[in-house]
Amino acid sequence: MRKKITIAIDGFSSTGKSTIAKLIAKKYNYIYVDSGAMYRAVTLFAKQNNFVGKEFLYEEKLISKLKEISLSFKFNEKLGFAEMFLNGKNVEKEIRTLAISQLVSKVATISEVRKKLVAEQHKMGNKSGVVMDGRDIGTVVFPNAELKLFMTASADKRATRRYKELIDRGDNVSFKDILFNVKERDRIDSTREDSPLLKADDAIEIDNSDMGIQEQFERICTLIDRKVKES
Ligand code: DC
Repeated sequence: MRKKITIAIDGFSSTGKSTIAKLIAKKYNYIYVDSGAMYRAVTLFAKQNNFVGKEFLYEEKLISKLKEISLSFKFNEKLGFAEMFLNGKNVEKEIRTLAISQLVSKVATISEVRKKLVAEQHKMGNKSGVVMDGRDIGTVVFPNAELKLFMTASADKRATRRYKELIDRGDNVSFKDILFNVKERDRIDSTREDSPLLKADDAIEIDNSDMGIQEQFERICTLIDRKVKES
């Protein structure tokens, strides 16, 4: 049997990390973990409890309730990927809204939140054959991952993709707000003290500003096949 490896995909927001990760998981029969969904679910919990809003973040209050947050992924056969559940409730749709995107980077600066989620990510990554995407997967969560990718694209291209995605599912958003959010999240994610978004020294950078999904996918499959052979 072919050896299964750990694949870490990091990069800026809306660079299509999850699209590629899902395709990889399907082709190689790997487990896919969307670590961003976990930060988004904690943010939804914090928002529902009024611990976070545009102008405030009650860190201590959220930290004191972290034990009450239970996160799980459940595979949806119809959709072909795992959906996020917060305390037993499917929150897949709610966590993808612009309202959550506008708060999540703030919540992701809290070290106690990161500690909890990284511990859960380690458990999910224990099984062989994992592809996980996020901001700190190759640097903090799986520094020994056999393959590390770092995705980039121009802010304009990324905002255009995200805008289309949200409009297609019926959300009422403006391109200006999406572009601002993409840039603002990059700024907060890259400058936070704990586990900032960084390209790992051994990560392969892929700028997909002018690359289609198929081209990226083929390129990444070649990298995976090479790594599997080597390891
Ligand atoms: O991948 P995403 O856009 O759904 O992630 C949402 C936010 O969660 C992102 O802006 C920063 C945070 N995040 C993080 O800090 N660390 C990760 N490993 C994944 C996401």
